[in-house]
Amino acid sequence: MSLTETLPVIDVDVFSSQPEGSDNVQQECKKAADALITYGALLLHDSRVSEEDNNTFLDLVEDYFNQPIAKLQKDERPDVMYQVGVTLENTEKPKCAVDEPCLDIIAQLDPAERPLDITGHHPDPKCRFFWKMGTPPPYETEYPALNAPNVIPEAPELKTKWEPIMEKWGQAMKDSVASIAEMTAVGLGLDRNTFKDAGKYGPHLLAPTASDLVKYGKKDTILAGFHTDLNCFSIHGRSRFPGLHIWARNTGKRIPVRFPPTGRYLLVQAGKQLEHLTGGIIKAGFHEVVVNEATVQTVEKRKITHPERPLIRISSTFFWHLSSDYQLAPIPELKARAESLLADDAKAGSHKFQATYEPMKVGQQVQNELKHIALMA
Ligand SMILES: [Fe+2]
Repeated sequence: MSLTETLPVIDVDVFSSQPEGSDNVQQECKKAADALITYGALLLHDSRVSEEDNNTFLDLVEDYFNQPIAKLQKDERPDVMYQVGVTLENTEKPKCAVDEPCLDIIAQLDPAERPLDITGHHPDPKCRFFWKMGTPPPYETEYPALNAPNVIPEAPELKTKWEPIMEKWGQAMKDSVASIAEMTAVGLGLDRNTFKDAGKYGPHLLAPTASDLVKYGKKDTILAGFHTDLNCFSIHGRSRFPGLHIWARNTGKRIPVRFPPTGRYLLVQAGKQLEHLTGGIIKAGFHEVVVNEATVQTVEKRKITHPERPLIRISSTFFWHLSSDYQLAPIPELKARAESLLADDAKAGSHKFQATYEPMKVGQQVQNELKHIALMA
């Protein structure tokens, strides 16, 4: 992939507007599954997504994180592992820094394609807000800590508009990602509801991150160190500042993510739960967020075009989860294909990094991952 190309673009409108059996829909679904297999990521085009809603959301979250730290601290909830409310900078550590197979993956990359060095094991200088967007399960859950109530900021200028803006933009991303979950299932030859049903009561989160580019705007600063996401799908709206790099499976190349310059696009990445369910056919995509040359240039431009706005890089991210009580295990129909792909990986030399996909409850898998990133004691 050259620097001017973008990731495969999947047209969700085709899926929403035509019968599932049509050639167009089948092709688009296969394209979605193939993009996730090859890149661990895709761009989607969806007419239900509005750039204006994303901009309103980005303005709100910039204003929120521009508040004094004492106000932000009131919205912290360490007792529920920060799974609602705010996580302040320098709390979350990139899991990869303590995870040996992950450090081996970095070591195997060509030095020019490696992420910025995370071996210092410093926590990420990024803040985050978690806004729950799941449907509470109608049964008693084994994992109630992941189902705690939402936090609304106290500041009068944020308080009244917070919920409607979070809900509107969050719902747009949630609808889009639910369509991608269906398209991926169809593209893998499964029933369209396979993933969607497994995530019906997932503790989905609208999870914007914020990086202060005045404090952390120097080139080659790590905002979020090399890692994969623990959930099923992650979806992002356009950020005002570049800086996200992804790594495609087996190509070993660092890819700076670029959205088409205008239009109704979102970026989707595969997370650990999808990797587990597919037995490794789709691998969770490694990524990092850093201050690169393009970030620095955008900061300089924005100082001129929007001198009144805070220089905070917001990523409008949504984490789509499987239901906490769902039994996570590779789907039997995918076994043969998973084995053949993993054999290809072995030929490419990456077999020693292969994970085993032990059956476990999704809630257990999430708790295992949170321990790694220092959000849970
Ligand atoms: Fe991530």
